[in-house]
Amino acid sequence: MSAWDQNGDVLRLNTWGMNILFIGDIFGSPGRRIVADHLEDIQGSNQIDLTIANAENAAGGFGLTPAIAEDLFAMGIDVLTTGNHIWDKKEIFDYLPRQPRLLRPANYPDAPGNGWQVLRTRSGAGCAVINLQGRVYMPATDCPFRKADQILGALDPAVKVRFVDFHAEVTSEKMAMGWYLDGRVSAVVGTHTHIPTADTRILPNGTGYQTDCGMTGPYGSVIGVDTDIILRRFLSAMPVRMEPSKQGPELHAVIVDVDESTGRARGIRRHAINGD
Ligand SMILES: [Fe+2]
Repeated sequence: MSAWDQNGDVLRLNTWGMNILFIGDIFGSPGRRIVADHLEDIQGSNQIDLTIANAENAAGGFGLTPAIAEDLFAMGIDVLTTGNHIWDKKEIFDYLPRQPRLLRPANYPDAPGNGWQVLRTRSGAGCAVINLQGRVYMPATDCPFRKADQILGALDPAVKVRFVDFHAEVTSEKMAMGWYLDGRVSAVVGTHTHIPTADTRILPNGTGYQTDCGMTGPYGSVIGVDTDIILRRFLSAMPVRMEPSKQGPELHAVIVDVDESTGRARGIRRHAINGD
């Protein structure tokens, strides 16, 4: 498990390796529970050096609270990424600027907190974690492609290991981002749809890629929400109150093995756990 202490805006990791664990959208209490039950084992058996998780819906399926973020950090997650739902709980607004390990999408034009962070080991090796959000069927934000250019331009070139969570709706925009950043970042992994995709690969210039990591939460649901409620909505076209499901918890993650001297992914694989 990683141990962190903070030094200005740079976080220092006590141990350094090359294996990055990325956990897909933690949804509500079923998602948090399966992470709590399995994270230590996954980290130990896969020699994980850095754990990142998307937590935009960790609080009851809608948003994130400071207390839940702290719980997730205490479980052994080093960095939390988010997306459009980060704004659902008002108390997160004040917390974001105080907690550099919690990211919100970098391409929000005027928002509290940060969209990327550099983590540095005691040996000096670094890892940048970048959170971007798509624009197709999503809230209007600045261009994520140009934002990525801007961040990579501002980044110390010595920081070779770079992980991108691209929180977006459509597969085409996500694939486009993968190709756009191929060779410039170590991995691009998608979030937001809650459906894992089977296109895990290393792009030609060394970027590990998967269109969507999938949800860590209740799969006896429609993308996390109670199945009966969503069926009623589709059949009646009437507004319904969304309730998170508790059925069929699964954990979906991606493990990327990065060559820290080049930043290229040497391997990327899916890691899933059925919690039943
Ligand atoms: Fe989302």
